[in-house]
Parts: sequence; C-alpha cells; structure tokens
Amino acid sequence: MANTILVGAQWGDEGKGKIIDVLTEQADVVVRYAGGNNAGHTVMVNGKKSVLHLIPSGILRKNKLCVIGNGVVCDPVGLVSEMAGLRQHGIKVTPKNFALSETAHVVLPYHRELDGAREQLKGENKIGTTKRGIGPAYGDKAARVGLRVNELIDSAKLAAKLADRIKENNAVLKSLGAKPLSFKSVFAEYDRAGQQLKPFVQNTVVLLHDQMRAGADILFEGAQGTFLDIDHGTYPFVTSSNTTAGGACTGSGVPPHRMDRVVGVMKAYTTRVGEGPLPTENPEISDLLHNMGREFGATTGRPRRCGWFDAVATRHATMVNGIDDLAITNLDGLDTVESIKVCVAYRRGKTQYDYIPNDVQVLAGCTPVYVEFEGWQAPTVKCRTFKQLPAKARAYAKAIADLSNARLFIASVGPGREQTIFV
Ligand code: IMP
Ligand code: MG
Repeated sequence: MANTILVGAQWGDEGKGKIIDVLTEQADVVVRYAGGNNAGHTVMVNGKKSVLHLIPSGILRKNKLCVIGNGVVCDPVGLVSEMAGLRQHGIKVTPKNFALSETAHVVLPYHRELDGAREQLKGENKIGTTKRGIGPAYGDKAARVGLRVNELIDSAKLAAKLADRIKENNAVLKSLGAKPLSFKSVFAEYDRAGQQLKPFVQNTVVLLHDQMRAGADILFEGAQGTFLDIDHGTYPFVTSSNTTAGGACTGSGVPPHRMDRVVGVMKAYTTRVGEGPLPTENPEISDLLHNMGREFGATTGRPRRCGWFDAVATRHATMVNGIDDLAITNLDGLDTVESIKVCVAYRRGKTQYDYIPNDVQVLAGCTPVYVEFEGWQAPTVKCRTFKQLPAKARAYAKAIADLSNARLFIASVGPGREQTIFV
C-alpha cells in the first residue's frame, strides 16, 4: 500500500474511521498524528459499534501496530479508559501493538476547565468546542509550558511541574469565575494513569523509522477535517491542530518525501458540528438526515448541522492536502432525495469564489451557486460493486469527485466493512 495519509476533506466526521478500518487491512502500522479525544471515530465490525477517540482504529485488527504520534494531545485518563473499553470487547492492547509518543503533550483537568470557562465567556461568539481541553493544551504546547508524556510517566517530574502549573492555572480559573483544582487529587489520578501507560511509551519517531526500514507500510490517520485545521480552516471556528496532510509529517516525524499517497474522505453531503460558517447548510436536509437517525456527534452526541455537498470546500481540500484519491461516504444518506444540489462556487456581491475565502465574515456573507442532480431514489445499502449502484448514484459520485479535482476511489453505502465499494 505504501505510506498513505488519510484526511477529512470537510469539517470532520466524514467517516474516516470506517475508511481507515478498511485500508488498515493493507497497512502494517497505523499512526494518529494530530488532535486529541475531541475526535470520535465510529467503526462497525460484525454489527458491533466501537467509538474510538485516541487510539487508532487499526487496533480493531490483529497484528497491526498502532501509534499515537508526537502531534497528538493525549488525555491519559481518557486513554486508559479507552484501553479498558477495548479489552472488555476482547481486543488486545499490549506494548506489542500499541505505542504512545514520549513527546506527545498531555491534556490536564485545567485545560478542560479553561476550555469550558472560555467558551462561556465568549457567549454568542463561542466556537462550540468539544470541551475536551484541546485548545488550552495546544496553547500550552505553543507557549512552552506544556507537560509531555515523558514527564507524565515520571512521578517526581510530574509532581513538580503539576504543582507549578496548577498554581498558575488556578489563578486564571478563579479570575474567570471557575472553580480551582486540587493538586492532590489531580496528581493522584494522573500519576496513576501515567504509570499505567508507562509500558507503552516510546520514542515513536525512531520506532516508525525502524518500521519503515523493515519495509512496513504506514497509514496516517487524520482526525477532524481540513476546515477545522488551525491554519487552513475557517479560523477561529477550528480546532487547535494541523489536521491537514502536512500535520502527518510534523505530528509523526516521518518526512514528506516518505509519503506516497493522500486519500481524502468526504461525505456525499456536508456536515459540521459546532459553530462557524457552513455555506451550504440546509434545514430540510438536516431534518431528513436526523429523522433517519443519522448525523449525531460521536463524541458529544450533538446533532450535526447538515447541508448540500460543497465542491468549493472539497476542491480547496484537494489543493491543501494534495489529495490523490477520494472516498465518498454516506452515499446512502441521499437515497430518498428527489433532486440533489451541489455547490460549485460561492458568490458575494459581484465576486465569485472558487476556493474558500480566508475571512470568516466574508465567507458568512457568501451564497452558494448550485447545480442540481437527479436523485436515484432507490436503496444503495446492499450494493457491493460500483456497477450495482443506480446509474444516477454513479453519475453523482463521479461528478462530485471530478468537481473536487481528485479520483474516485471508494464509495461507501453504510457503516459496515462490507458496504465499501472500490471503484
Ligand atoms: P475542539 O477541537 O474541541 O477545540 O473544538 C473546536 C471545533 O472543532 C468545534 O467546532 C468542534 O465541534 C470541532 N471538532 C473537534 N473535533 C471534532 C471531530 O472529531 N469531528 C467534528 N468536529 C470536531
Ligand atoms: Mg467524528
């Protein structure tokens, strides 16, 4: 398979978890490179649903090495409970199939408290974060006051640094009207988690290079989506990491020239959870999908905002990530729609945009220019080959891939592994 980066081409929740699970079959190593437990990757295997937040979805398959890279912010308590959950499902998680980077940054309770307090302070201008402390944890990393995994697993270092950090953060929390934290209880909980994680902690840069030398194929598992990228997304309505393909290099220590291919995942329509512009948002399609029981957040349970497929966004995503191949998911979500709209440009006054404008206020003032496609109005969930899809569904899938400037590679018609059509 060669080294492959998989990214979301929209605002997250494109169905990456499922496509990663399918592609993992051909990979030896799966690496998470950015984000934290704000992510929620839903994977269905043999009718059983698993939601993963930190551990790469590759863990569900035997003999795959799963790595949390240095670019991730890791909530150790969350990670330990995710590992326990997997073991309850009979999935082995051992130092042989799972490694955690010693330089990944640690998410601590004050990050979560600050995330919540800042959101509250923002009021109407809130970002709609997952409140997992992601922004404040990356903020500490950039401000060079973060705690890394190698300090977490050393009780003496953890105690010293945590005492300092809690002191400063308690002052901030108090000024924001939030409750201060107790060093004693935070230390007890995080030290315990650190000791449980210790056997898994490694220099993952060296590990990945050893693996490559031995001929391993690596799959880089993106989290969130292109337009939640801190640099390339709809700032400030973004997450705090580089979710795009470049993040795979910085977040793992594997250099750019070792990357062979970029796969983009996109839904056959558009969704977003949280605040911020969503040009093709449409209440009818939102209602339709929610009434089908679809499009509720995997991490927070919030209903996702839904809209028509936005080719301006996906074309932009192809550009920024260098997407070669596309996986289109949730094609079956449009099975009952009579006429399907696709946004091919934005207009604002006399200006037309073929890519997403950088200023969210400009973006908010844009109206989509649509083209329409006839719906296929037939169930696709049982289709197993591209030929079995209704002709109109094939035409739609091909058209949105073309409009996104990338090759159609996979069409997915349901959450199961078997509902994956290779084109
Ligand atoms: P944060 O990452 O929790 O700070 O949230 C920032 C923004 O990114 C919010 O709009 C979240 O809803 C969104 N977000 C974060 N993680 C995900 C994800 O995995 N899927 C979809 N949206 C996400
Ligand atoms: Mg998700």
